[in-house]
Amino acid sequence: MKITILKIALLFQVFLLQAQQGTEQDPRVAALLKTMSVEEKVGQMTQINLGVFMTNDQLDIEKLRNGIVNKNIGSILNANKHAFTIEQWTQLITTVQDMATKESSAKIPILYGIDAIHGTTYTQGSTLFPHNIGMAATRNPSLVKQAAKITAMEVRASGIRWNFDPTLGVGRQPLWSRFEETFGEDSYLTSVLGGSAVAGYEEDGLQSTTAVASCMKHFMGYSVPLSGKDRTPSYIPTTQLKEIFLPPFEAAVKNGTSTVMINSGEVNGVPVHASSYYLQDILRDELGFKGLAVTDWEDIIRLHTRHRVASTPKEAVKIAINAGIDMSMVPVDYSFYDLLVALVKEGEVPMTRIDEAVGRILQLKFDLGLFENPYTEKEAVKNFGKKEYKEVALEAALESITLLKNENNILPLSKKTKILLMGPTANNYGSLHGAWSYTWQGKDEKAYGDSTETLRDAFSDYLGKRKLISNATNVFDDKENTSIDYLNENAPKADVIVLAIGESAYAESPGSIHDLNLPANQIALAKAAYATGKPVILLLAEGRPRVISEIVEGAAAVLNLYRPASQGALATTQIVFGEVNPSGVLPFSYPKHAGDVVPYDRKGTDEVTELIPDTYGLGAYDPQWGFGFGMSYTSFEYGDLTLNKTKINIGEDLHVSIPVTNTGKRSGKVSVDLYVSDHYASVTPSLLKLKRFTKVALKPGETTTLEFVLKTEDLSFIDAQGNRIVEPGTFSITVAGKRQGFTLAIKE
Ligand code: BGC
Repeated sequence: MKITILKIALLFQVFLLQAQQGTEQDPRVAALLKTMSVEEKVGQMTQINLGVFMTNDQLDIEKLRNGIVNKNIGSILNANKHAFTIEQWTQLITTVQDMATKESSAKIPILYGIDAIHGTTYTQGSTLFPHNIGMAATRNPSLVKQAAKITAMEVRASGIRWNFDPTLGVGRQPLWSRFEETFGEDSYLTSVLGGSAVAGYEEDGLQSTTAVASCMKHFMGYSVPLSGKDRTPSYIPTTQLKEIFLPPFEAAVKNGTSTVMINSGEVNGVPVHASSYYLQDILRDELGFKGLAVTDWEDIIRLHTRHRVASTPKEAVKIAINAGIDMSMVPVDYSFYDLLVALVKEGEVPMTRIDEAVGRILQLKFDLGLFENPYTEKEAVKNFGKKEYKEVALEAALESITLLKNENNILPLSKKTKILLMGPTANNYGSLHGAWSYTWQGKDEKAYGDSTETLRDAFSDYLGKRKLISNATNVFDDKENTSIDYLNENAPKADVIVLAIGESAYAESPGSIHDLNLPANQIALAKAAYATGKPVILLLAEGRPRVISEIVEGAAAVLNLYRPASQGALATTQIVFGEVNPSGVLPFSYPKHAGDVVPYDRKGTDEVTELIPDTYGLGAYDPQWGFGFGMSYTSFEYGDLTLNKTKINIGEDLHVSIPVTNTGKRSGKVSVDLYVSDHYASVTPSLLKLKRFTKVALKPGETTTLEFVLKTEDLSFIDAQGNRIVEPGTFSITVAGKRQGFTLAIKE
C-alpha cells in the first residue's frame, strides 16, 4: 500500500523553544564563578558518600573536614546504613553546613542528596508508599503526585533538598531486579506518572519547604538489560529508544525536573556516561534540559574498570566530563577530584566545560535557597509525620492491589472465616516494602518500627487470634513458612487457606535472579494446599511478576499486592474482607512462561507462527494476565464507543466517548485504558499503544460517559531515521475491547 509520508516537527518545537529561552546566566552564579579557584570548582563537582566520613558508625569530624575543607566537596549523599531520626539528621546537616559555610574557602553550602524512592527511605518514622509498580496499578496520577509531595515534605524536614527520584526506566524486562521501581512496561503510563511525581516534588517551587529537587533517572535505557541482570548491557534500536524510553524523560523535563542521573549501563556498546550523543545531543539539544547531570554510583571510574572505554582512571574522568557530566557521585574516595584538577590544569578539560557544570550546581543551590539558609528549616520539620500521610499511603495500596482471579466470587471473605495463613511473605515486612525501605535492601526486619504491620498482624487484627492459624515467622527463608507438615496438620481446622507468597526484599544487583519462576518450595506449598481440598487464596507480595502458571488453576483467588509498603497489610485485609472493592490493574503483561515475555504493545510479527505459512496468533501474546487486567467485586458494562468524526485532518483533535455502567451490587472504581492502533506505517506499528487512561468511581446502577481527546501527536511515531512523524492513513481506537476506526488525512 502506498502511503504519503508527511513529516512534521511535533513535540520538539516546544523543547527547542524552551532551550532558546533563558540562556543568560544568573548574575549570582556568574559573580561566584569569577571568584573560584580550579580546586573550588572541581570540588563542587565532587559528591562523596556519608560513609567516608564515618569511623565506627560515628561522624568523624576530621574526615569531614578533609572532604569539605581540603577537597572543597560540594555534595554529600546517603545515610549511614540505617535511617536516622529527624534529630540526628538535623544535627548532621548543621555540622556539615557549618563546616561548608564557615570553614571551607569558597563558603558554599553543601547540596545533600538522598534516595527517597517510595517515601523517605532514610528517616525513621517516615511514611512509605507502594513502589512505583504498584502506583502504576492504581492508574491514578493524583495519588502519585500526592505521594511525591509528602515525600518531598518529609525529605525536606530531614534537612535534605535533593531526592534521587523518580525512576523513569520503562520496565520491559521483568527479570531485572529494579522492576519494582518502574511504572511498568508502557511508555505513556510511565510518562504520565513520572511527570506527576516530578510535579509533586517540585511544583511548589524549590524555595518552598514543601518541595525538593527531583532527579529523573536513570537516563536512559537502564531498565532493559538483555541478560536481565542489573547494570549489564542494553541493546536498543533508535526507533525504540525514542519511541519507548525517551518520552518519560521528555515528560519529566516538561514538568520541571531540576536534575538527571545517568544510566550506569551501556546502550548499544556505548556507556552512557561516556556518550556526548546521550548527554548532549539528546539530553540537552533534543530535550532542552538545563539542569544538573549527576553520575550514578562510581560510574566514572567504571568507564575504566568495567566498561573498558578508558585505559586509565584519568582518561575516564576526561571522557565523562567532556561528554557532559556535571557532578560525579564518586563517592568513596577523592580520586575524581585529584584527577580532574590535574586535567583542567593540563588543558585536557576546558574551563568552559567546568564553568558550565559548576554553574548548574551553583544555580541549583541558589534555587533551593541554600545560600540563605542551608540548615534544616523549622517550617519544614513541622510537615514531618502527619497522620494524613498514612491515609494517602493506604489509599494508594488499596487502589494498587490487583484482583487477578476470583473463582465463584470466593472473595470477599466473611469475617467469620477461619483462616490458615502461611507462606514466606506472611509475616515479613521486607516482602511488603521492597527496596529502599529504611535500609537500602529493605531486608532489616528490625528497622520497620511500629508504623507498619505484616500480613499476619493485619489478619490477626481483623479476625482475632481464634480465627487465624499461622506459624509464619519473619525470616523469609524459614522452613516453617513453607512446611507441608504444618499445612496438613492445620488445614482441617480452617475454612480457607491463604498463602502469602512471592519475594523477599532486595535492591539493585543483590536482587538479580536466574529464573522468573517462583521458587519450587513455594510452588510445592501451593500444590500441597490444593491437595487438602480447602479453597486456597494466593497473595503475591513481589516486585516483579514471578511465573506461577503451575499453580494458577488450583487457586480459588489471586491478589497481586506488588510492594504495597506501610499500609499494605491493612489494605490487603480491607480488600480480602470486602470493606474495599479492588480496582488495581496490571501495569505489565504478567508472563505465563519464564521464556515468553512479550509486552502488550507488540508488533504484528510478534504474532507470527509459521507452522502453516501466514498463520498468526498462536500463543504469541499469551500472558497469564494481560496488561490492564484487574477484576472487581462488582461488574461494569460499556455502551457504544463513539468518535466525533470518522475522518480527521492532521492537526485536528479526535473526541472519543464511551459510557460505562456499574451493573453490579457494590460501588467500585474502574480503570479504563484507551489504545490507538495505526493500521499501516513505514515503521512496523505496534498492534496497540496506550494513549489515555482514566479511573472513575461508580455506585451500583450508575452510568458515566468517559470522554477522551486525542491530538495528532498521539498518532505519531518515530521513523527509521529517529524523527517523530505522522503518516496519514487508517487507525483504530480500542477501549474496553470495543473498537472504532477512523482516517487521518492531510487537509486539501
Ligand atoms: C543507584 C541509584 C541511587 C544511587 C545513590 C545507585 O546504586 O543506582 O539509583 O540513586 O545508588 O544511592
